[in-house]
Amino acid sequence: MKKILFQLGIAAATLLLPSLVSGEPLQIELPPETASFKPAAGVELANAQCLVCHSVEYVATQPPFPRTFWAASVKKMREKYDAQIPDAQVEPLLDYLVENYGVKTNGPPASPVTPSLVAESKTPEALGFKFGCTLCHGLDKKIVGPALKEIATKYRADPTALAKIAEQVRQGGSGKWGPALMPPFPMVAAEDVKILGDWILSLK
Ligand code: HEC
Ligand code: HEC
Repeated sequence: MKKILFQLGIAAATLLLPSLVSGEPLQIELPPETASFKPAAGVELANAQCLVCHSVEYVATQPPFPRTFWAASVKKMREKYDAQIPDAQVEPLLDYLVENYGVKTNGPPASPVTPSLVAESKTPEALGFKFGCTLCHGLDKKIVGPALKEIATKYRADPTALAKIAEQVRQGGSGKWGPALMPPFPMVAAEDVKILGDWILSLK
């Protein structure tokens, strides 16, 4: 309750200020329906267990992650932050989170690759899925990192582009596009880095 009042306080202050300054009538535009979990089987569990300490955005703004991510997240909420989630509700909660905020549903996946294809395939889409590149980079859409097409545009005329991409994959880093950090991927073999790099640079 305290948190809700606090948030309303901030909203009221930011809405009020310009109207005081400009003298124009106050217009209140409510944000789109993001304040609750997506309605689906199990939503009552998420509403009861995941809104105690923070807003739904903490969940809704995550990239589309697989079940292992959500399992780790719920474990962290219980162990680190002492969320009082009964054991019997954990699996049903994971079902709900994966179904509604998981790989398939939280935004369009960058490629239609399914995990069963990944093991054998060396297509760039499959490699991007396997190493998680496309969890953070949409084709056209920034997720955690820049859209792959933006990267292609940045490097279109740069003859050393492939080397720079390889460097980014090996070392990770931040600061070129913003404060977000890309982790290093030393496990990606040089030939796979080249496949990924050629692919990124070919995107239009
Ligand atoms: C007891 C309080 C509490 C409950 C209940 C809780 N969380 Fe959290 N959650 C936190 C805190 C504290 C943070 C970290 C906030 C920060 O760093 O700004 C957090 C952050 C998160 C994040 C952001 C990523 C991260 O790990 O920091 C996700 C995702 C998340 N919670 C999911 C959930 C889900 C799903 C549930 C319901 C199953 C849930 N939380 C219930 C306290 C809670
Ligand atoms: C956890 C999220 C995350 C994952 C996973 C990830 N990236 Fe990134 N990536 C980022 C972020 C954030 C940046 C921006 C870094 C910066 O601002 O310097 C970035 C930047 C880049 C760039 C631009 C480098 C430049 O010089 O401008 C390339 C290329 C790239 N990533 C490729 C990849 C590839 C290939 C993979 C998979 C092997 C991958 N990324 C996986 C988050 C990620």
